Amino acid sequence: MDRPHLRVAVVGAGFVGRALVEMLSDPERQIALDDAATATLEIVGVGVRDVERSRPGVPRHLLTDKVLDLVSRDDVDIVVELMGGVDLAKSVAEIALGRGASLVTANKALMALCGTELARLANDHGADLMYEASVGGAIPIIRALRSSLAGERISRVIGIVNGTTNFVLSEMSERGLDYDTALSQAQALGYAEADPRADVEGFDAAAKVQILASLAIGTALEGQEISREGISSLRVVDVEFARRAGYVIKALGVIERVGEHGLSRRTHPALVPLDHPLASVHGAMNAVFVEGDKSGPLMWLGRGAGGEATATAVLGDLLHAARNRVAGRHDLPFTVDDRLYPVDEGDVSSVFYISLDVLDEPGVLAEVAGVFSRHDVSIQSMEQSGFAHEARLSFVTHLARTRDVTATLADLNDLTSVDRVGACIRVVDGGTA
Ligand SMILES: NC(=O)c1ccc[n+]([C@@H]2O[C@H](COP(=O)([O-])OP(=O)(O)OC[C@H]3O[C@@H](n4cnc5c(N)ncnc54)[C@H](OP(=O)(O)O)[C@@H]3O)[C@@H](O)[C@H]2O)c1
Repeated sequence: MDRPHLRVAVVGAGFVGRALVEMLSDPERQIALDDAATATLEIVGVGVRDVERSRPGVPRHLLTDKVLDLVSRDDVDIVVELMGGVDLAKSVAEIALGRGASLVTANKALMALCGTELARLANDHGADLMYEASVGGAIPIIRALRSSLAGERISRVIGIVNGTTNFVLSEMSERGLDYDTALSQAQALGYAEADPRADVEGFDAAAKVQILASLAIGTALEGQEISREGISSLRVVDVEFARRAGYVIKALGVIERVGEHGLSRRTHPALVPLDHPLASVHGAMNAVFVEGDKSGPLMWLGRGAGGEATATAVLGDLLHAARNRVAGRHDLPFTVDDRLYPVDEGDVSSVFYISLDVLDEPGVLAEVAGVFSRHDVSIQSMEQSGFAHEARLSFVTHLARTRDVTATLADLNDLTSVDRVGACIRVVDGGTA
């Protein structure tokens, strides 16, 4: 059977790009690829910075450093952007989509910053914009939200969407390492960048939350800031308290409906009960836990990074875009629900774990308890540990408004009997995440 022939330009031949080119060129996969694409696919060029660098698996004659020329070619049907960054990637996307070529990207920063605009451009020109690999690496969560759960009302999404922080926290809780040692370990193993701030301060997770929120609930891709807390101030004592109390600390991205149309989007560490499915997500793995009104809880688990794992998600998008092209159609962009509004995070309630380094002397507990009570934050349980200059009080609150907890911490900070306010971490399903 004669199949249509589609031409593909790949921009970027690093970890992901090279793995994609290798998969597309693998003779063992050709029948499956042609079937899934309903076309034969030809790579007509691979854009890179340095064409001289040796890249096993990528034919030398395909390499070019004239990226914009490559994606402007009239005969290119689908552009795959695997370069990263925003400025040049945005130009690549605009040129490709603007002339009706479909675009597949793994670029979360690009999608979080310019996704709505690019989706509109794609739709106006009858092209596809696909970005499965931008969240959760190999995990097919975007397709699941867009297709399988398209008619479901999603009430909450909780993701472990950053492998670096999950690795660091796993090392802290499973091997008793402190934060700095666990981070160095992650850097030595290639799980963390030399400058880890994007991961440990929650920026990377926030971009993914933004993308997931758009698909799960229907928010605009860009817009209001995501509330963001990192993991760098966590201490071994917090991890140990969590374990004693039946929890493990995980860095989460959370999207949650509040009331009918309110939406909370945030990233922060949280105490996750040991019997929650997310508690068993170890090391650099990613997971996305979704709660739908009718579906109940669902969870996807898999490799959130790695060239080959990520390239499988890119390949799935590429084949889908190819099928659509052959059929003369394109996926419609999701509809933004204008009724949604971002809630003030201060109004969101949760159960909190709070730890204080205190002076080891009489009357301190009563003084501290008085501050909690003044702000209507009621205490569910309390643990006193250490002595002398290591005396510590650890509290788990009942459900409390974030604003009240913040005010409590500010007042506790002013007490002379409190050396230091340590952790203030939400507890998942102690009320809400
Ligand atoms: N790696 C992962 O595990 C992973 C997981 C999920 C999503 N992603 C996303 O996938 C994308 C690619 O990631 P990666 O890890 O493969 O990146 P990478 O290894 O750094 O590769 C980037 C590629 O883009 C090329 N490039 C960069 N700037 C360029 C420019 N100005 N002009 C021409 N070419 C340029 C580089 O060329 P040279 O080789 O010549 O330098 C390189 O081939 C990123 O958006 C990333 O966020 C990656």
